[in-house]
Amino acid sequence: MIIEETENYPFELLLEADPSIYKIKEYVEKGKCFIAVDKEVLQGVYILVAHTPNKAEITNIAVIEEERGRGLGKKLIQDALQRAKKLGMTSVEIGTGNSSIAQLALYQKCGFRICGIIQGFFDDYPEPIVEDGIRCRDMIRLTYQIS
Ligand SMILES: CC(C)(COP(=O)(O)OP(=O)(O)OC[C@H]1O[C@@H](n2cnc3c(N)ncnc32)[C@H](O)[C@@H]1OP(=O)(O)O)[C@@H](O)C(=O)NCCC(=O)NCCS
Repeated sequence: MIIEETENYPFELLLEADPSIYKIKEYVEKGKCFIAVDKEVLQGVYILVAHTPNKAEITNIAVIEEERGRGLGKKLIQDALQRAKKLGMTSVEIGTGNSSIAQLALYQKCGFRICGIIQGFFDDYPEPIVEDGIRCRDMIRLTYQIS
C-alpha cells in the first residue's frame, strides 16, 4: 500500500468525513490531499492544511467501509504527522463532532489531546447529524504536539 499526494480528489470518500461539499472544496483548495492506494484501489484519504508555517490541520480523514477497524486510520494519521514534522511544523490539529465517539477514541490513541470546543459548529449544517443517538452540534478540537 502506498500513501501519495493527489489532485484527483475522491469526493465520495471525503464526504464520509464531512457531509458539507462546500467545506470539502474549501479544504482541498487550501491544503494537500493524500490517498492510500492498494493494488490501484483507493483505501483511504486525508487532507492536510497548513494554517501557519508551524501549525497544520487534518481536516478530513476517511477509510473505505470494508477496510475500517484494521489500522488504516491510524496509519493515515501517522503519515500526516510525519509529513507535518518534515515541513517543520510544531503542532497538528484535528476536529470532530461531539457525537463521534470512535473518532475521539482514535485521535486520543494517536496522541492528540483535547484543546477546545467550538460550540454550535454543526448547527448550521443543512441536515442534522446524529450518531449513536447523539445529536452532533459542537466540534471538539484536539492537538498533537510534535516534539
Ligand atoms: C474514522 C476512520 C477514519 C478511522 O479509520 P479506521 O481504519 O477504522 O481506524 P483504525 O482501525 O486505524 O483505528 C481505530 C481505533 O479506534 C479505536 N476505537 C474505535 N472505537 C472505539 C471506542 N468506542 N472506544 C475505544 N476505542 C475505539 C479502535 O480500538 C482502534 O484503536 P486500536 O488500534 O488501538 O485498537 C474511519 O472509521 C472512517 O472513515 N469513518 C468515516 C469517516 C469519518 O468519520 N471520518 C472522521 C471525521 S472527524
